Amino acid sequence: MRPSEPVFMNPDLTAMRIHDDYAPPILEMRGIVKRFPGLVALDGVDLSVRRGEIHALIGQNGAGKSTLMKILSGVYTPDEGDIRVEGLPVSIHYPREALRLGIGTVYQDLSLVPQLSVADNIYLGREPGNGFVIDQTAIRRSTQALFRRLEVRDIDGDERVGRLPLAQQQLVEIAKVLSHEPRILILDEPTAPLADEETAHLFRILRGLREQGIAIIFISHRFKEILQQCDRATILRNGRLVTTIDMQGVSEDELVELTIGERLETFFHHAEQMRANADVVLEVSHLSVRRAVRDVSFTVGRGEIVGITGLLGAGQNELARALFGIQDGVRGTIKRRGLVVRIRSPRQAVRLGIGLLTEHRKLEGLVPDMSVKENISLPSLAAFRRLTMFIHNGRERWAVRESMQQLNVKAASSKVKVSTLSGGNQQKVILGKWLLRDLDVLIFISPTQGIDVGAKAEIYAHLSELANQGKSIIVVSEDLLEILGISDRIFVMYNRRLTRIFQRGEVDEETLLSAVQGATL
Ligand SMILES: Nc1ncnc2c1ncn2[C@@H]1O[C@H](COP(=O)(O)OP(=O)(O)OP(=O)(O)O)[C@@H](O)[C@H]1O
Ligand SMILES: [Mg+2]
Repeated sequence: MRPSEPVFMNPDLTAMRIHDDYAPPILEMRGIVKRFPGLVALDGVDLSVRRGEIHALIGQNGAGKSTLMKILSGVYTPDEGDIRVEGLPVSIHYPREALRLGIGTVYQDLSLVPQLSVADNIYLGREPGNGFVIDQTAIRRSTQALFRRLEVRDIDGDERVGRLPLAQQQLVEIAKVLSHEPRILILDEPTAPLADEETAHLFRILRGLREQGIAIIFISHRFKEILQQCDRATILRNGRLVTTIDMQGVSEDELVELTIGERLETFFHHAEQMRANADVVLEVSHLSVRRAVRDVSFTVGRGEIVGITGLLGAGQNELARALFGIQDGVRGTIKRRGLVVRIRSPRQAVRLGIGLLTEHRKLEGLVPDMSVKENISLPSLAAFRRLTMFIHNGRERWAVRESMQQLNVKAASSKVKVSTLSGGNQQKVILGKWLLRDLDVLIFISPTQGIDVGAKAEIYAHLSELANQGKSIIVVSEDLLEILGISDRIFVMYNRRLTRIFQRGEVDEETLLSAVQGATL
């Protein structure tokens, strides 16, 4: 393969590049039904996608978006309904068949192998005879060519995937799928872990693919980017089709209303007055992390919500990780209730009453084959045990039920395997797990990643409630509206330093955005 060759251009696509309204849609799904034990995930859903469009698929957590796409990509077979590609009926039983039909999928949970290199991941499972020989030089060269087309400059093909930040892993995943030259590209929440800048980069890539006539199905909970970037949208609610609409002239409110079936008046209901924060529970002085954080000092009060934001790589994640003992190269002093402490491991952190939910859910998050109930109560067994000397089933059941209700986890029951939950509902279980623990400083990195608008409001209310009970909460997020909505104080990191601190109500989105981008005043 010559590097100058357009890598993703299917030769026979070029001829069909005209946007012809009379031509059959490139993809038609009709009357799709999918049942799982105890629930109907899809109930007669239609989806029609045109060549050369970015088509959004929208709906609340558990609405059936991923299930519909897994049917298209051969992971699940539908119970009823039919699928046509370019007007021809197809049946797709295996992922391999979907790929052969030109359907490529970037799944909600990344499927990369952390121990393998970037290049090996991209060409993993490609057998010789498919036109590919497992030849390291060839693989490396094709990887470079792929990245060149994606305008990705800073990923080394020889690097181990596990060492890359999440956003770069996402790009590797996309490169991997594009290397199959799909004519229909499915992206299941690709932007959830991305900051604004990387999202913009992704959309530049997608617009380029659209120009080439590729149909893109795009799942996201972020209405702003959907409104700005997508041509049409199909909305699902509770496994049913609501409608398919043109994005032209649609407002965010209308989109929210179509999605949740009602108006969401009070998105952030707790924009109350500042909580008092006289009681300092955590004091950080001159904290530095090698290459990531420089000389940061601040305090956190009892019952306060501190939001930390910044561009990706500004140091906020490393700062949070340092407070939980999972960051190398930390210098400086940390005091808990006035006493200097050393936090060198999560264990020490937890003993000091500090908990962290990181952005790497896969590593720390859930045990897929265990039930929702077990997953929620797992880390707190120790706490239950302390109370009763043995696991008091009644109490545990009550706590789990409470937690599932508070976070509105959608599952057939608390006994089903957590892996059968939708992405957003798994995220709620992870949150529930942490909230059950008896810790008084809770740190969350991107807590509402992948969570729908309605549920977000509930989680914010819940965090606010916890703060009112006296817990101190630190939320690290690149989502400025989220940070503005929940924080009593907002810390802005820029270029590894803590550059600004705003009080609640003191700053609007625009000012915060320029602070995040480095403006000093
Ligand atoms: N393998 C499975 N077994 C049992 N139930 C399942 C399975 N896969 C999905 N479900 C259920 O089907 C419903 C739809 O899930 P799906 O993953 O399609 O939601 P989603 O719209 O992608 O939500 P999210 O925004 O949270 O990712 C959910 O109630 C989910 O629990
Ligand atoms: Mg999903």
